[in-house]
Amino acid sequence: MPGMLIANIKQLVNVRAQWPVLRGKELAELPCIDNAYLLIEDDTIVDYGPMEQLASNHSALPADSIDATGKLVLPAWCDSHTHLVFAASRENEFIDKLKGLSYAEIAARGGGILNSARKLNDASEDELFNLAWKRLQELSALGTGAIEIKSGYGLTVPGELKMLRVIKKLRERSNVTIKATFLGAHTYPVEYKENHQGYIDLIIQEMLPVIAREQLADYIDVFCETGFFSAAETEMICRAGMQYGLKPKIHANQLNLSGGVQTGVALGAVSVDHLETMDEAAIRALAGSSTIGTLLPTAAFFLRMPFQPARALIDAGCAIALASDFNPGSSPSGNMNMVVNMSCIQMKMLPEEAINAATLNGAWAMECARELGSISTGKIANLIITKPVPSLAYLPYSFGSNLIEQVIIKGERVV
Ligand code: NIG
Ligand code: FE
Repeated sequence: MPGMLIANIKQLVNVRAQWPVLRGKELAELPCIDNAYLLIEDDTIVDYGPMEQLASNHSALPADSIDATGKLVLPAWCDSHTHLVFAASRENEFIDKLKGLSYAEIAARGGGILNSARKLNDASEDELFNLAWKRLQELSALGTGAIEIKSGYGLTVPGELKMLRVIKKLRERSNVTIKATFLGAHTYPVEYKENHQGYIDLIIQEMLPVIAREQLADYIDVFCETGFFSAAETEMICRAGMQYGLKPKIHANQLNLSGGVQTGVALGAVSVDHLETMDEAAIRALAGSSTIGTLLPTAAFFLRMPFQPARALIDAGCAIALASDFNPGSSPSGNMNMVVNMSCIQMKMLPEEAINAATLNGAWAMECARELGSISTGKIANLIITKPVPSLAYLPYSFGSNLIEQVIIKGERVV
């Protein structure tokens, strides 16, 4: 019989017949089956259950089987916010920061996003693809099975289109589920520093029509931040994207109370991301909406910012997801195991909450929860098999160890 059996699973994690977005207290409910089996056919989860029911449920079993004695099986991570396509790392700025410069100061003197944009515009599409492909391979071996990737290091018509075409090619060639987000409004290019409307016009008149025609993006994003795009500019750009069917997923409240959360909520954004800087009004707005708040703890860690107020958000009833923000400036790691770990250590999320936020709610934050994010019959077989571990809590507890033994993406072993 074709397919694959995973048997003797110590604990099958995040098992659901229904998979609603989880908010507030629901986030701590992580349904599991101890001593379980799971059956895959082609790229799909076709059955699972307690080991003692395996023989009675199935007279014939696939020859291909994995013994998961002592091991956990989880849905692969759904990383709903990354900038995976970039031309070069920026460790020189890292040194500048160690010497005392702030993120905003580095940006103001032409570093940061503008530095990445110069390098990206000089790189060929093939170079960018090869670099991004390697990163994607590394991340899938660390358990990432779905990923959102943004443009935003082009800031020119050809540069933005080049990035989005690289993302499209990654999507065509990889088994990892990929969503593309147009982030032309990442910062103002130097030549538009005093002419914001000019750059917004370029985005709306020159970039968006081509992106829509070539179907290069699923979402539109704006870096809504003091010194970058105001709430009003964010709204203008998102509305233009929405005309082409791109839903907003926006960078909000990273460095300041930018109004980005309320703007995102008013626009019906799929998610508002970052949220390092929140006040009561922003928390209330998010809690009363269907927009997901995506927390990026490794960006807060790397920039030495206060961490996102995860507990306050959960207590207020918000739906929150966790993502890596993988990018060369503020989170040069896309390791979701680290994100989960950091959300527990620094934001006091419970292991169950962190795993739900990095799987099911992450899938919701890129609108692929129907296919991914939980162990459910009919969903795509994107799975993490851990090394033998004492318990689920050991995953975030044992920081720095690679506890992943195998990853299965679309039913195929990647490690
Ligand atoms: O999500 N905040 C804006 N964008 C990225 C950082 C980009 C960069 O520094 O290159 C972020 O943190
Ligand atoms: Fe980001």
